Amino acid sequence: MTNRSTPPTFDENFREHFHDLLVWRRDVREFRPDPVKDDILDGCLQLACQGPSVGNSQPWRFVHIRDQDRLNKLAHYFKDENQKALSDYDGEDAAKYARLKLSGLREAPVQISVFADTNTTAGKGLGSRTMTETKVYSVISAIQILWLSLRSHNIGLGWVSILPPDKMAGLMDVDENWVFVGHLCIGYPVEQTDIPDLVKKNWQKRLPMDRFLLQR
Ligand SMILES: Cc1cc2nc3c(=O)[nH]c(=O)nc-3n(C[C@H](O)[C@H](O)[C@H](O)COP(=O)(O)O)c2cc1C
Repeated sequence: MTNRSTPPTFDENFREHFHDLLVWRRDVREFRPDPVKDDILDGCLQLACQGPSVGNSQPWRFVHIRDQDRLNKLAHYFKDENQKALSDYDGEDAAKYARLKLSGLREAPVQISVFADTNTTAGKGLGSRTMTETKVYSVISAIQILWLSLRSHNIGLGWVSILPPDKMAGLMDVDENWVFVGHLCIGYPVEQTDIPDLVKKNWQKRLPMDRFLLQR
């Protein structure tokens, strides 16, 4: 899709579709093996790179992992960390946690690790002097755009954080100062649903809006 020169007008029809996109976005852990076309993935990454960033520093760094050895090591890291996480729970929660599927590392056809280059000179430090973490926030904004853009192509994304952050730059052979933000499993979902998996599996229900909105 090319950038247009005249500003678009967003109408009710668009808003309905956009609403559906937001409500039917899901964190996906079960993927079909069908490949994702390179041009679709590139287009979504391009949009992610148009996201907001502190001082326009564009600190996002995407590592598209193609090497099977790296993927195997990643899956082992996940297994170890997930086992440690399981040991934090007892009783019914432990049994429930053990049944959860918390990554598509073995199935998703596209695997991307995302880092923040918090030392980038782009943006000349504007906006991040008081809050250095804003570079990481910028990367999270880009991931959210990637998530929604992919979903608009009926492609799912699953965010994996059950990984050792201190080992990720080494595994990916990137600058050791880059901050690991998350690993993304990407592909066509087995199922489309408007209900989060952790709600379905009775782990954590959605909470009412009045818990989050304060009036002063
Ligand atoms: C920062 C972040 C880290 C996450 N890490 C994981 C993870 O390691 N494994 C997993 O299965 N889901 C992970 N998720 C997905 C959440 O579990 C999911 O977003 C939440 O349960 C709500 O479901 P929904 O995204 O389908 O609405 C993560 C989400 C975020 C935003």
